[in-house]
Amino acid sequence: MNAVLVSNANKSFSDHGRVIRALENVSLDIRSGEIFGLLGPNGAGKTTLISALCGLLELDSGSVEVFGKNVQTQRSEVIPQMNLVTGFAGLLHGLTVEDLLRYYSFLYPIKDREKAIEEALLVTNLVEKRKQMAYTLSSGYRQRFYIAKALLSKPKLLLMDEPTVGLDVETAIRIRELVSSLKSQGITVLLTTHYMAEAEQLCDRIALISDGKIVALGSVSELKKMAGKPHASLEDTFLKLTKKNLEEEEDE
Ligand SMILES: Nc1ncnc2c1ncn2[C@@H]1O[C@H](COP(=O)(O)OP(=O)(O)OP(=O)(O)O)[C@@H](O)[C@H]1O
Ligand SMILES: [Mg+2]
Repeated sequence: MNAVLVSNANKSFSDHGRVIRALENVSLDIRSGEIFGLLGPNGAGKTTLISALCGLLELDSGSVEVFGKNVQTQRSEVIPQMNLVTGFAGLLHGLTVEDLLRYYSFLYPIKDREKAIEEALLVTNLVEKRKQMAYTLSSGYRQRFYIAKALLSKPKLLLMDEPTVGLDVETAIRIRELVSSLKSQGITVLLTTHYMAEAEQLCDRIALISDGKIVALGSVSELKKMAGKPHASLEDTFLKLTKKNLEEEEDE
């Protein structure tokens, strides 16, 4: 079974009378157990798609299924299966890492809360920071905290919107190792990133999205072949495939 199946998703926003088509007939599947990359320029529709996937945003038309269940109509069955990591969540002041995880754990129906907290601290290498005030964490550790928080609910699908944005080289490497380790635990990961090397290293398959449309989908080597240059860098491939989409639009 696919972890995710998006069928003909459409979403428009209106901005001062102007219509923005954030998602235009988007269809894709994410296989169970893979790390799937969603890549595209700023404003391409990545966060919109992630929001639709986790039920935070209603589509105008089309559907999203997670592990065979419809996100809109079978919400209570779908939501416990997934969690979201974005770099832009807030931290509560005045609580230590450990206490804040305990606080968040009450969001979820967890049988053994303390065990889940220990596991989340361990997987994200936060054990030594457990007594530190959460709001004083550096960005890299803060990012680990968000991942730990998301892992509390033992998700089968983890949505990660730019998990390494703004991190230094070494911290980003650590977070990537962490993402790989999630895969080896059988967790399906959907990841957005603007770092091509990261996508190349981590992702089994990648969808390129531009102006709300999927312009290509495949493994890194398949994408390179689609762009007509099997030995080109992913960066060049990305530019070629996303630009092609723009050129087609201009021709219309
Ligand atoms: N609530 C909203 N109201 C109006 N327009 C919106 C809203 N949310 C998103 N948009 C617009 O939809 C388009 C897609 O935005 P989205 O945030 O999905 O892009 P993105 O691919 O995540 O970009 P980035 O790489 O910058 O994070 C953009 O043009 C954005 O301005
Ligand atoms: Mg975004």
